[in-house]
Amino acid sequence: MKIVVIGGTGLIGSQVVSKLNEHGHDAIAAAPNTGVNTLTGEGLPEVLAGADVLVDVSNSPSFEDQAVYDFFETSTTNQLAACKAAGVKHHVALSVVGTERMAEKGYFKAKARQEQLIVESGMPYSIVHATQFFEFIKSIAALATDGDTVRLPPVLFQPLASEDVAKAVGRTAVGAPINGIVEVAGPDKFRMDELVRQALRAANDPRTVVTDPDALYFGGYEVDDSTLTPADGAIIGDVRFQDWLERQLAAA
Ligand SMILES: NC(=O)c1ccc[n+]([C@@H]2O[C@H](COP(=O)([O-])OP(=O)(O)OC[C@H]3O[C@@H](n4cnc5c(N)ncnc54)[C@H](OP(=O)(O)O)[C@@H]3O)[C@@H](O)[C@H]2O)c1
Repeated sequence: MKIVVIGGTGLIGSQVVSKLNEHGHDAIAAAPNTGVNTLTGEGLPEVLAGADVLVDVSNSPSFEDQAVYDFFETSTTNQLAACKAAGVKHHVALSVVGTERMAEKGYFKAKARQEQLIVESGMPYSIVHATQFFEFIKSIAALATDGDTVRLPPVLFQPLASEDVAKAVGRTAVGAPINGIVEVAGPDKFRMDELVRQALRAANDPRTVVTDPDALYFGGYEVDDSTLTPADGAIIGDVRFQDWLERQLAAA
């Protein structure tokens, strides 16, 4: 199968490309530095010629509200039009568990718009909803930091390793379109404040995590135990947080 991976040079995309190629597919990384820009449309018709599947694991370079909204709207609109023109048979996109519960503003409004465009496009599609990547935990801490204090709510979440996300995206790409959402999450649930505290301690980070039930997630979202966790039936990743953390610390 020829599979074009938009954002194929990123954290998830690079792993999706390698896994698909290891399984004998012709996976191509598409990103601005490989000559494909989904905002301008540059390179899209050429890279999609003869493609069976498009996988979108790109992300906006800016997370500012309007910029991220414009990114996902323009990029997705251009991808869907180019897919139809090239006869691509399956559009796969990566989004976030709980997007619909946080869609009123900011980043998740943009992800909800991306999903709406795909659902309404008439293209056969599959949307993979992943929980937070283990690699993203340091950004969760950074966004909640004020001086030496990290203020986080004690809500449940179920993060996973990026390699498990890439595996789920790759499997979805080679399967039949589900015309719906499949969720993927980590093997364990944690309280967000506790896991971030553990991760910072392990890295000898001097910041103190303060448990604050009123603290907002990701710079502005009120969350509870059901906002970020998947429904029953999600695909569950293999890699446990402690094993991932030990590997990261050993590599550092
Ligand atoms: N972080 C999380 O915990 C989490 C959880 C669930 C789902 N997700 C979703 O996962 C997806 C991928 O995240 P990631 O962390 O792997 O992203 P990433 O590492 O930041 O990679 C983003 C990719 O998008 C490409 N890109 C940027 N602008 C582009 C454009 N105009 N045209 C084509 N490609 C462009 C980048 O190429 P260049 O490097 O050349 O700019 C890069 O290859 C996102 O959609 C995100 O919503 C994230």
